[in-house]
Amino acid sequence: MVKQIVREPGRTFGEFSLLTGLTPTDCTLPNISLATDLAGLKLQLPLLSAAMTSVTGYEMALALGKEGGLGVLPVRLPIKEQAAIVERIKSYEMGFVEDPVCIERDTTIDDAVRLVERHGHSKLPVTDRNNVFLGLFSFDRYLELDVPPSDPVGSVMLAPDEMVCCHDPALSVKQAKQLLGEGRYLVVLDKLERLVKLAFRKDVEKIPVAAAISTHKGWQARVEANLAAGVDMIVIDTSDAHSEFVGEVLNAYRAMKTSVPHARDVPICAGNVITADGAAYLMEQGADIVKVGMSSGSICTTQRQKATGRAPLTALIAADRARRAYHEQSGHYVPLVVDGGVGSAGDMIIALTLADAVMMGGYFNHFLEAAGEKLDENMRLTGHEPEMRRVATWGEGSARARNLDRYGHSTIKSFFTEGEEGTVEFHGRLKPRLKEDMRKVKTALGNVGCRMLAEFRERAVIELMSSRTRDVVGDTHSIHVGKG
Ligand code: IMP
Repeated sequence: MVKQIVREPGRTFGEFSLLTGLTPTDCTLPNISLATDLAGLKLQLPLLSAAMTSVTGYEMALALGKEGGLGVLPVRLPIKEQAAIVERIKSYEMGFVEDPVCIERDTTIDDAVRLVERHGHSKLPVTDRNNVFLGLFSFDRYLELDVPPSDPVGSVMLAPDEMVCCHDPALSVKQAKQLLGEGRYLVVLDKLERLVKLAFRKDVEKIPVAAAISTHKGWQARVEANLAAGVDMIVIDTSDAHSEFVGEVLNAYRAMKTSVPHARDVPICAGNVITADGAAYLMEQGADIVKVGMSSGSICTTQRQKATGRAPLTALIAADRARRAYHEQSGHYVPLVVDGGVGSAGDMIIALTLADAVMMGGYFNHFLEAAGEKLDENMRLTGHEPEMRRVATWGEGSARARNLDRYGHSTIKSFFTEGEEGTVEFHGRLKPRLKEDMRKVKTALGNVGCRMLAEFRERAVIELMSSRTRDVVGDTHSIHVGKG
């Protein structure tokens, strides 16, 4: 006899719509923060890139880390390689922007915004024909002002006396760091006031990075190598973490926190689970963060192969229930990361009504910085950006990755695939698309009247849509999209 039959169907993000709340006048985009706190690790963005060999390598971890998210380096990387990437990222030094995209004083705001969207840089220097620096167009400042987009950027730009300017073209990175102090940007000019280079505060801060481990032999050595390299979070990467193997690693890590230097300050995230019992188990065993999801990944065939898994939002609701109970009983708030099936800003918004952060694979796979090979229109390898059309992708449980540890196989003989291999469309560089999606997420917080994610999780109301409603509210309807 079956223990229980759950008749309520599992739900995913796209089935829900966010309701609005009163928006206060100061709840504007520049005042809304997407910062999140993962058991002491503070991120500017609530985004993690999946611990997948086709997604996260040095480039993705660096690009996402620079924007304020967190790359999770896959466990399939040899220990030495994984720790070396952590070390490279932690020692990444800011550089100057030597050749910034410049605009002229009479460029329209509309044109400047298009450049911001194309390049992802939200600050554009305004110069004259002789490259003399006149000011800085700040996209965030423009959003605060009520100015028509047809106006010239000269009417909204920040003047040179509103920022740190320095007249020493030979300024070193070290000197720039000191000069920047609390300032957000530094402009370096020559004696004739011509623009030489720029430096941004966020490039001075250390970039966060995480490393995945398994529960199999050698995990301690992996943890130690990564801690020594300066890693900011350890992630136990297993497809089903409701397991005593994971419990044992969590207990052993707790012991390491007292014996291994740095371990005390490095949180451990364990996953994945899909039930309240599974989440409660990990919390009780000492997980600082719990990761949720199974069978919802974009390349995942687990459901097809062994009919196991759960719709991601339903899994998240269950984990949140366990988190509330654990909080009441222990006083500890355990952040949740939802993993799998989040593919758009809309998905992120609904996920963030419950989760402290989202992990994504497919979403990041589309970008230049993804670890998968870049292919041209004939599916041939290319390193030349204009020719790139598609990016190779494969799941950790695919024949290509054969991540035996993640799926609990002790030998290759018992392995069967739980993931596909394929390609996704190439979407260029990460930064512009990410910035746009983060504006969408911030706007949704504003619609609810929230300036912070913690507030959003308290106040958001989401509503299930019927399939008929999804036809009407979910997308355009009754029109042919396009001109003429
Ligand atoms: P996505 O964001 O929907 O693409 O899901 C990414 C997540 O899918 C990863 O973070 C893993 O949890 C999961 N995943 C990665 N590889 C596989 C696989 O081969 N089979 C099943 N799930 C996978």
